[in-house]
Amino acid sequence: MDNFVFNNPTRIIFGKDTELSVGQEVKGYANKILLHYGGGSIKRTGLYDRVIKSLNDAGVEVFELAGVQPNPRLSLVQEGIKICRENDIRFILAVGGGSAIDSAKAISVGVPYQGDVWDFYEGNAAPKEALPVATIVTIPAAGSESSFSSVITKEEGWYKRGLNSELLFPVFSIMNPELTYTLPDYQTACGAADIMAHLMERYFTDTANVELTDRLIEATYKTVVNNVPVALKNNNDYNSRAEIMWSGAIAHNGLLNTGRQGDWGSHAIEHELSAIYDIAHGAGLAIVFPAWMKYLYKRDINRFAQFAMRVWNIDDNLFDLESVALRGIQALEEYFNSIGLPTRLSHANIDDKHLEEMADKCTASDTRKIGGVMQLNKEDVLNIYKLAL
Ligand code: NZQ
Ligand code: ZN
Repeated sequence: MDNFVFNNPTRIIFGKDTELSVGQEVKGYANKILLHYGGGSIKRTGLYDRVIKSLNDAGVEVFELAGVQPNPRLSLVQEGIKICRENDIRFILAVGGGSAIDSAKAISVGVPYQGDVWDFYEGNAAPKEALPVATIVTIPAAGSESSFSSVITKEEGWYKRGLNSELLFPVFSIMNPELTYTLPDYQTACGAADIMAHLMERYFTDTANVELTDRLIEATYKTVVNNVPVALKNNNDYNSRAEIMWSGAIAHNGLLNTGRQGDWGSHAIEHELSAIYDIAHGAGLAIVFPAWMKYLYKRDINRFAQFAMRVWNIDDNLFDLESVALRGIQALEEYFNSIGLPTRLSHANIDDKHLEEMADKCTASDTRKIGGVMQLNKEDVLNIYKLAL
C-alpha cells in the first residue's frame, strides 16, 4: 500500500426530502447565490419549485443560469462567470447531474481568476481561489457531488478536458434517491456505467498489497451491478435507487483510491468520443472499457482474472486464468448490453472516420502517455478505438 492523505470535506446530506433543507443549508454560507442547472428536467419534475421555495423561505436572493448541456460547454461557464462578477455573487448552487455540477465548479474558479478559465483545463495554470459550490444531485453517475474534479468541453476544436483541485470539492451535497425516479432508463444505465468505470479505473492498478481497497471496490461494484436491474424494472424503488446513489459518490470521493494508483486511461480515451460525438459519457465508457480491457489484460492476467472471479463469479476451477480473465470481460459486455448500453462504436453509429484524430488529441499528438498504470501512446489508443469498432 502506498502512502496517502485522505481528505474529503464535502458534507453529504442523504435521504428522503433532504432537498427541502437547501435554503437553510445555503443560508449558512450566503444570502445571494447563482442557481445553475441543465436543460429543464428539474422544472418538469417539480424539483425547481421546491428548491426555489426553500431558498425564498430562507431569504436567499437567487440569480439563475439554466441551460447546462450534457458534456458542459465553456461558453456557458463564461456566461456564469460574468453573471457572478456583475452581481457580486459569491456562492453557486448546482442542481442536476455531473454536467451542471462541473459547470458550476468551473464558474467557481473562473470568477476570482483574471485570466481565461480554460487555462486551468489546459493545465497552464492552477486555481488559487474558488467560490463555494453546493449541489443537489439528480443522477448517480459522475460522482462530481463529492469529487475534486470538473470536466468541461471547449466548443472551439471540441476539446473536453478535466481539472482536479482540492478547491473543487463541493461544501455540501444533497442526495435524495427519490429525485432519481424520473430518470429515463438510458440515463440510469449510463450513470451506472460511469460509476462502474470509476471503480475499474481504481481497480486495475499495479500497486501491491491493497486488499482492503480491492474488497471495498468489489463490494461497491457488485452493489451497482445488483441494483441497477431492480431500479430499471421499477423506477420508484427507493432501496435500489439509494444503493446506486450512494455507490456513485463512494466510487469517486477518493476513498477507494487510498494507497493505490489508478489508471484513468479509459476516461481519457472516452472524453475524446463524447467531445466529438456528444454521446453520454457513460455510454462512451461502456464502449471503451471492454476494448481497453481486451487490449491490456495480458499485462496483468492475475488481476483481470481476480476481477472476473470476484465480481462476475467466473469459476477458476473450470478454466485457465486467461480464459477466466476473458470471460470476465465478456460478462461485463453482456451486462452493459442487458441494461441497454452500447458496447461497440457501431452500436452508437460511430465509424472509423475520426479515430486517428481522437487518438491524436488524446495523446497531444503522441507527446504524452495516457493511463497511470498501463501507459499508452497514440498507436495504443488508436488500436483500442479500432478494437471497439
Ligand atoms: O439537463 P437536464 O434537463 O437536467 O437533463 C439531464 C441530462 O439530459 C438528465 N437528468 C439528470 N437528472 C435527471 C435527468 N432527467 C430526468 N430526471 C432526473 N432526475 O440526464 C442527462 C444527463 O445529465 P448529466 O449531468 O450530463 O449526467 P452525468 O451526471 O452523467 O454527467 C456527465 C458529465 O460529467 C462528467 C462527464 O464527462 C460528463 O461531462 N464527469 C465528471 C466527473 C467529475 N466531475 O468528477 C467525473 C466523470 O468521470 C465524468 O467525466
Ligand atoms: Zn466518469
